[in-house]
Amino acid sequence: MGIEFVDLFNQWASSYDETVGGSDPEYQEVFAGYDEMLQELANMASSPVLEFGVGTANLTKKITAQNKVVIGVEPSEEMRKIANVKCPEAAIYSGDFINFPPLEMPIRSIVSSFAFHHLKDQEKRLALKQYYDKLEADGEVIFIDTLFKDEAYKQQLIQDAVQKGHLNLAQDLQEEFYPFLEDLEQMFLQLGYEVSFKQLNKFAWLIHAKKGE
Ligand SMILES: C[S@@+](CC[C@H](N)C(=O)[O-])C[C@H]1O[C@@H](n2cnc3c(N)ncnc32)[C@H](O)[C@@H]1O
Repeated sequence: MGIEFVDLFNQWASSYDETVGGSDPEYQEVFAGYDEMLQELANMASSPVLEFGVGTANLTKKITAQNKVVIGVEPSEEMRKIANVKCPEAAIYSGDFINFPPLEMPIRSIVSSFAFHHLKDQEKRLALKQYYDKLEADGEVIFIDTLFKDEAYKQQLIQDAVQKGHLNLAQDLQEEFYPFLEDLEQMFLQLGYEVSFKQLNKFAWLIHAKKGE
């Protein structure tokens, strides 16, 4: 579910690491501080970790470097091929945020970077509900993704992108399913999580949700 973008990611896989490294001027601000952001998330994760949308395994690698166990899930075959070469320490399966292989160990952290926005709101809720049921009692969801503080901020980001001639970015901001902070907060709270948000750059936020008492 929510994997209508997989063809695009198959095509993007071979140049993905260049994009996050700043090669595409349109997306430089989206990925500003990419390595540091992923490192912050990796430091917070508790083993065993379940990661969705691993892409080329940049976050995966930072987590396994801390001797934490990672089970990865990634729908794009081309991304998986690169991830397996870059991070053979992790077990990376075909699947998505909602449909993934059965877990054979208790999971303490569910993590993801720059991927959750591929799900529509109803799919986000379904995924987060499943995670609540699957996580250990002290478990947590830790995501990094673009989200909008409010409607005015969204319009400002779109306007900025248009003014800079970043028309692909402007289109993404309008067409992908980036959530509003308040809607996402409500979703987590209604499902029983405690949640906090921290802005990391102009677009990206760290979302940290713990299973409530
Ligand atoms: C922008 S990349 C992020 C990759 C990596 N996490 C990172 O931080 O660089 C988004 C990734 O999410 C994957 N993806 C797309 N739809 C997905 C879904 N429904 N479930 C899980 N992953 C998905 C894509 O194939 C792609 O690898």
